[in-house]
Amino acid sequence: MPDLPPPLRQLQAEFALSTGQLAAIAALFRREMAAGLEGRTSSLAMLPSYLTCPTGLEQGAYLALDFGGTNVRALLVELLGDGRYRVLGRRSAPLADPEGAYDFTAGAARDLFGFLAAQLADLAEGEGPYFLGHSFSFPCRQTGVNSASLIQWTKEIKTAGVEGQDLTALLTAALQRRGLDHIRPVALLNDSVSTLIAAAYREPRTDIGSICGTGHNTCYLEPAPPWGRQPMYINIEAGNFAKVDGNSYDALVDQASEKPGAARLEKMCSGRYIGELFRLVLQDLTGRGLLFAGAPASPELFRPSDGADLALILGDESPELEQIALWLDDRGQAGRHSLDDRSALRSAASLIAIRSARLVAATYAGVLQHLDPAVHRDHAIAVDGSLYEKMPGYARVIGLTLAELLGDRAGRVRVYLTKDGSGVGAAVAAATVSR
Ligand code: BGC
Repeated sequence: MPDLPPPLRQLQAEFALSTGQLAAIAALFRREMAAGLEGRTSSLAMLPSYLTCPTGLEQGAYLALDFGGTNVRALLVELLGDGRYRVLGRRSAPLADPEGAYDFTAGAARDLFGFLAAQLADLAEGEGPYFLGHSFSFPCRQTGVNSASLIQWTKEIKTAGVEGQDLTALLTAALQRRGLDHIRPVALLNDSVSTLIAAAYREPRTDIGSICGTGHNTCYLEPAPPWGRQPMYINIEAGNFAKVDGNSYDALVDQASEKPGAARLEKMCSGRYIGELFRLVLQDLTGRGLLFAGAPASPELFRPSDGADLALILGDESPELEQIALWLDDRGQAGRHSLDDRSALRSAASLIAIRSARLVAATYAGVLQHLDPAVHRDHAIAVDGSLYEKMPGYARVIGLTLAELLGDRAGRVRVYLTKDGSGVGAAVAAATVSR
């Protein structure tokens, strides 16, 4: 980053990661993967999915439920074979109503699963049966393709009565309560796995899937899983990677979170947390008199921020940084900011977003080292999520960092966006299971 003003140089030192540090992170990630697979102590859970590659020929109409950290989506997908599909119907709703009418992220299991069942009702108006794939964006202990219990909530969700419970049983009970017995859940899978399956349905060479959105995670096709003879998709639960040192802001984010000590990498990288990192940085710089000519800022400035705020700030390329000006005006700072202040905000947002993308790329390098240490073969990484899709420069930095770590061999690795992957992948998974 060119010529940062002095207040930001220290910040840069806190968020910068050298090539050497990233290479060490990649190596540690690979080691934690191996330990997790062998059942040794590891911050990477390496969870089996009991699913293997689709053929690309799957056909028929399937329901998909995509339960993410922010929204729930229901889809009716017609798989046409040949890697093609059509979405016949779609419903989407936030888990917490922005107007405050409901909040299923903090209530009881029965209400949450009732809400999920309700989203499916309109899409299953025929006689059925409708086979359903359920993409669930949280770590699950899986004992089969359709039986999985939630290990623990992440992303600050705290709905009671779900941790430790069988999720298919909870959903089936909710469907029955609504008289929706013609909807049959047949597969439950992590959203990283459903993203990878959706991508592999179209492009069979894709062997790594990842989410860079509200949460962060990666999965891959393990050629020699300890749980069977066939290659299997493994959910790494990459966001829980703990062998990475955070700075003082990371420590504050962690301490204030629902589960301190858990999801260390996710708290440094994902959309759920980088807005909070940005807020803490602003608070710190303002408190030290380094912004706004040393004047105290309006408390409104320190309202919660999220990944979308950072995307807006990074997307402002106007000479006077007008979008950032509006953002500051809206937060009680009208008439109290200079171009230098706005430019400092942009640099701070950039440091946070770049660190996120570089860390993610280092973990991808770790997965590649596990799969193919010399990168002899071609690989493809399918990524879904708002950060990868919408954060200016994010995808580019991932590509550049992989080139920094892999050199010429980076040419063998393609990273690409798989939009809506989780819903479509859940439908493909349902098809592979009910085939
Ligand atoms: C969860 C993962 C999930 C990721 C992306 C994390 O918080 O632990 O299971 O894949 O978010 O949604």
